[in-house]
Amino acid sequence: TESVPEDVVALVRDARRVVVLSGAGISAESGVPTFREVQRGLWERFSAEELATPDAFDNDPALVWTWYRWRQSLIDAVEPNAGHRCLAAWQEHLSAQHGWLAVVTQNVDDLHERAGAEVLGHLHGSLAAHRCADCGEPAELPAPRYDGFTAPPTPEDPPGCESCPDGVLRPDVVWFGEMLPAPAFDAAAAAIRAADLVVVVGTSGIVQPAASLPLLGLERGIPLIEINPEETGLTEVMDFAIRGRSGEVLPRLLSAAGVPTGRR
Ligand code: APR
Ligand code: ZN
Repeated sequence: TESVPEDVVALVRDARRVVVLSGAGISAESGVPTFREVQRGLWERFSAEELATPDAFDNDPALVWTWYRWRQSLIDAVEPNAGHRCLAAWQEHLSAQHGWLAVVTQNVDDLHERAGAEVLGHLHGSLAAHRCADCGEPAELPAPRYDGFTAPPTPEDPPGCESCPDGVLRPDVVWFGEMLPAPAFDAAAAAIRAADLVVVVGTSGIVQPAASLPLLGLERGIPLIEINPEETGLTEVMDFAIRGRSGEVLPRLLSAAGVPTGRR
């Protein structure tokens, strides 16, 4: 990992209204398989693309339901990493100075929250949230019925809706071909337009419309920083691209800028 350029440190030190757009890469160091890696193990005969669709759920609700509960068990089994903790600490630091840091994530895991950060929007929904596939009512689920989700689907899966007679619950995530939750997207766009710094962490910048959000910052001449070990679809519009892992770069960047890193 390269050292952090001085002008990036200065941007971080002087920023008061920050938007961080995160993707699967920020959770990679927690051991969460990225979307396309999740096909290993129990579910390798399925591709994520064929399970994360409305048709797959209509065809076999119990199968898709069990797959998502299994993915939730993977998240429950890991911890937030230094990257998540840095963003939570930076958010707290700015709030104490009448500034703010908005976390906008494409991730469906709750690791930002478990690190102590407020999340402005989950652009692709949340594994931990459920809603009725028919009437749309949100549903609170009791703790997972079976640990590790190695158990097969049961006849009750997916659970029925308590607000309508025939509805069943689905994960409150955005499936391929579905629209993003407008409130989350609109809040993210408004935050970027008001920001004085945008940091894009751990996303390949391929999936739209999330990948178009940093361009709102570009239009307004707001500094854009990317943190990613590899080049992405957004690298060319970045003012600075730091090649490294978020769990290593963020602690070093914040320390150099005199911002707490949330280290225990
Ligand atoms: N630190 C920072 N970035 C990392 C790290 C790390 N330790 N490890 C990997 N990355 C980067 C990869 O280089 C890649 O650019 O994280 C990015 C992960 O890209 P994707 O797997 O495409 O994840 P993401 O961009 O979040 O995907 C967007 O597409 O799969 C669907 O809905 C799903 O929300 C997801 C969306
Ligand atoms: Zn219902």
